[in-house]
Amino acid sequence: MSAVLKSLPQLAPLQAEEIDAVLAIEDRAYPFPWSRANFADSLAAGYSAWTCRIDGELVGYAVMMLVLDEAHLLNLTVAPEWQRAGYGSLVMRHLFDTARGHGAKRMFLEVRPSNGSGQALYRRLGFETIGRRRGYYPAGAGREDAMVMAVDL
Ligand SMILES: CC(C)(COP(=O)(O)OP(=O)(O)OC[C@H]1O[C@@H](n2cnc3c(N)ncnc32)[C@H](O)[C@@H]1OP(=O)(O)O)[C@@H](O)C(=O)NCCC(=O)NCCS
Repeated sequence: MSAVLKSLPQLAPLQAEEIDAVLAIEDRAYPFPWSRANFADSLAAGYSAWTCRIDGELVGYAVMMLVLDEAHLLNLTVAPEWQRAGYGSLVMRHLFDTARGHGAKRMFLEVRPSNGSGQALYRRLGFETIGRRRGYYPAGAGREDAMVMAVDL
């Protein structure tokens, strides 16, 4: 009998020595990427930070802040060549489980109004728009607002 063994994605806590690999994706995924200091500070602050790997290859990562009964998604990124294959959803579901395990009741995030793929993913996971932060993000010409979204966990 032959069996096709499909590689399963592995989720693991982000380690400081992985920041170079994370930055290599970050710089390709965003016009205004996080800096090395943003990731290092997140680890130093004890934020919930995760990688997703397939056969050792880094395909995505996420950073989430947990405060009392609230979770705040700070970064969710899938490498461009691995997008639209379900990994963003997989990482988000892992964050939901992790947040619930820490007693979080609600998750919040900011997303650019121009980021259609992010909004589509978040809406599909049950997030709703609850507000707007004016001039939250740097943009090519000045600043861009953020949509604030939230979901009950
Ligand atoms: C947003 C992002 C994390 C989504 O990750 P992903 O692995 O591609 O998402 P998934 O494959 O799990 O997509 C799940 C669903 O989200 C929606 N979606 C995701 N990408 C989409 C796109 N480009 N266009 C429209 N819908 C999209 C779809 O409903 C999709 O389901 P489907 O493929 O069955 O139609 C990824 O595109 C990314 O890293 N983008 C750059 C960084 C970024 O913008 N991060 C979010 C910042 S707030």
